[in-house]
Amino acid sequence: MKQQLEAIQKQALDKLTQISEIRELEDLKVAYLGKKGELTRILKGMGALTAEERPIIGQMANEVRTALEESIANTRARLVREERNKRLKDEVIDVTLPGKIRAIGKKHPLTLVLDELKDIFLGMGYEIAEGPEIELDYNNFEALNIPKNHPARDTQDTFYISENVVLRTHTSPVQIRHMQNNKPPIRIICPGRVYRSDAVDATHSPVFHQVEGLVVDKGVTMGDLIGTLQAFAKAIFGKDTRIRLRPHHFPFTEPSAEVDVSCWGCGGTGCRICKGEGWIEILGAGMVHPNVLRECNIDPEIYSGFAFGMGVERITMGKFGIDDMRLLFENDVRFLKQF
Ligand code: PHE
Repeated sequence: MKQQLEAIQKQALDKLTQISEIRELEDLKVAYLGKKGELTRILKGMGALTAEERPIIGQMANEVRTALEESIANTRARLVREERNKRLKDEVIDVTLPGKIRAIGKKHPLTLVLDELKDIFLGMGYEIAEGPEIELDYNNFEALNIPKNHPARDTQDTFYISENVVLRTHTSPVQIRHMQNNKPPIRIICPGRVYRSDAVDATHSPVFHQVEGLVVDKGVTMGDLIGTLQAFAKAIFGKDTRIRLRPHHFPFTEPSAEVDVSCWGCGGTGCRICKGEGWIEILGAGMVHPNVLRECNIDPEIYSGFAFGMGVERITMGKFGIDDMRLLFENDVRFLKQF
């Protein structure tokens, strides 16, 4: 039995020197000192010993246990130390290495101008309203006083998804959605993407952006519209900017006007940008047609309103002196990083 104990001690100590993981150490501890371990197994044979042998073997077994426990503790400390050293070595950081250079992104010029437009109108007390780009024919046309077969539909080059569903051709359907769900007073702008099946060239794109404006309240007049557009033009193009209204026709406004601003290139004297005109058209506007108000359950005898819609690309090109709309959509970083 004495030899058995010595053998176990030697065997266990040998194995301990070879252990390299805490998990193995736990296994070994169980294998030798656990309830079903080697040591316990031997001690179960003590009953067969004589009364003189028993305390001697008992003491020896205790010594073996203590020695093993101590070695296990030492091994554990060794493993923890090795593990820490390994991590310190693996995770070493050379703080003198040059850092990775991250390219800083920039806002797209259209986003810059959209942000500015929103700021201007938020400053005048407007709220922002949005609607879907895939729109019902009803919201895009019908409710805006453009019935089926109305000639105005031809001018819009509509992408039809089905008979009653279109890619919105302007942001005006957001007016309808908003008026049908809100009571006056209403003061909103609706920025967003719109679609028309135009061929791409320097001034056309099948996808572009508009900002719609709508104000409905008691006693809103054409004077309010003109004052608002004047303030807007000065805010976006500079304080010397003037506007002029030319009579026009939109089915959803009456009276309607096209609105020009004095040319941002020459200030009105005539240059290449305004083709010698001195004026540049930037938006359509007018007093909301009574039929449109009625369609939205707003009584035109009590309320009146004005609306306007502008093209964001045109304004962006004017502000930054961009002469080809395609530049705004080609996403050439060399172009975009100038803004
Ligand atoms: N929806 C018109 C367009 O896309 C613009 C407009 C909006 C005109 C509101 C008048 C009033 O051309």
